[in-house]
Amino acid sequence: MKKSRNAQSSKTPPDLRVAVAIMAAGKGTRLKSQLPKVLHEVGGKPLLAHVIAAATSVVPAADVYAIIGHEADRIRSTFAPTGFNFVLQPEQRGTGHALMVARDALSAYDHVIVLSGDAPQITPQTIARLLNFHLDQQAAMTLLSAELDHPTGYGRVLRKNPQSAEVRAIVEEKSATPAQKKIREINAGFYVFAVPQLFSHIEKLSTANPHGEYYLTDMAEVLRKAKQRVVVCKTENPGEVLGANTRAELSFLDHQIRMRTCQHLMDEGVTIFYPATCVIDDDVEIAADTIIEPFVQILGKSRIGADCRIRSYSVIRDSEIAEGVTIRPGCILEEARIGSKAVLGPYSHLRPGSDIGEGAHVGNFVETKKIRLGKGSKANHLTYLGDAEIGAGVNIGAGTITCNYDGVNKHTTIIEDGVFIGSDSTLVAPVRVGKGAYVGAASCITEDVPGDALAVGRSRQIVKEGWAAEKRAPRKPK
Ligand code: UD1
Ligand code: CA
Repeated sequence: MKKSRNAQSSKTPPDLRVAVAIMAAGKGTRLKSQLPKVLHEVGGKPLLAHVIAAATSVVPAADVYAIIGHEADRIRSTFAPTGFNFVLQPEQRGTGHALMVARDALSAYDHVIVLSGDAPQITPQTIARLLNFHLDQQAAMTLLSAELDHPTGYGRVLRKNPQSAEVRAIVEEKSATPAQKKIREINAGFYVFAVPQLFSHIEKLSTANPHGEYYLTDMAEVLRKAKQRVVVCKTENPGEVLGANTRAELSFLDHQIRMRTCQHLMDEGVTIFYPATCVIDDDVEIAADTIIEPFVQILGKSRIGADCRIRSYSVIRDSEIAEGVTIRPGCILEEARIGSKAVLGPYSHLRPGSDIGEGAHVGNFVETKKIRLGKGSKANHLTYLGDAEIGAGVNIGAGTITCNYDGVNKHTTIIEDGVFIGSDSTLVAPVRVGKGAYVGAASCITEDVPGDALAVGRSRQIVKEGWAAEKRAPRKPK
């Protein structure tokens, strides 16, 4: 779901210096969370990441400024290293105050596009349209509006008259009269300002309102009273301006974004049986003719090739899966790589660094970590393989365990091509089993096994003839 880059219209004069400021300092009180609002995720990415992606499609990252405050360090470390800038708003005294603290960072620009860090569906096309409208109108302030069926909670746009693009004021929900509350044209929270006009009048903002904050929305009235031009540009797509102020709104946006991802994947030839039951992140790529069964999660930067079948209840994160792979129900994959035509599951657990070769099989209750399993090799049942290099055509019997950890350090097990490991064997690393060797069932292998040898590491069986019959026989009276 890549957003198209360079959405800025060719109409924008190339010598204009345009910045994007993203307001992201708020705590998000209504979420009742320790996590700052803009780090809450929708579609598998923080809210702010979606807005940054849209912003950097319109201007270079070096001209993007995220205004952060609440838990600023946490936000910085989530996004580092990146090309965009941070501005600190140590105390959050309102959206107007957010721009006041960004004055030094922005004063070298001609225009600033202001975005809300909590509205993740904004598109580069809409941002570019807003900028062009602002430039065409030669306005000091341009705001984006939308017509909503349920406008409650948003600021309302008061136009000079219904036909005019000129704005008289923006009135916040808490200060709106009953008549104003009926207005369905809302302030989306996205603006463009001419920088000199913004900063020559921003000090006129006051905190005389129910929240005791500096409202950026009041700039409409401030600028109008200073005889500056304030206009509104209405979007035809109200969906893209929705903000996430509550958990319910987060969940709604998450659903919207994931449905869009599923729709896009289906358009590209992927079958998704019941999209509403699947959780597929925004950045996931899946090739055509792959089938996704119900209740599957595909997360992070996972890539899945063509002709795969991902059966129900599998959770796949940050993994690369080649073509023609079958993942049977209930598998968990994390940072794993799966070669073409491999078969996994049911109930396989592939932990980070698992590299499964072409046509290999990993079966029920098999856990792998940091291993390479060669082409066509099989580990079908009840096995732990960690820190191992396993060649091609190897058969790992049921219940095999690589003992990779000695309590202090991890060690590697090497199993060369064509080896047969009998069931219930333990391989105490570091250890090597040479090409074509056999290991007898239930062996504990502590020493290297040469190629083509048979190693048996268990005590010999003893047989006591008639022992059981004798035990059962009735005792003779004395
Ligand atoms: C704001 C608008 C409202 C509009 C709505 C659209 C104001 C006063 N109201 O209301 O007209 O309809 O957005 O979604 O602007 N922030 C800071 N620093 C602060 C305060 C907020 O960076 O001191 C950030 C927040 O993190 C958030 C954004 O600004 O990302 C908007 O703030 P929020 O409190 O969500 O404003 P709304 O009440 O939604
Ligand atoms: Ca908001």
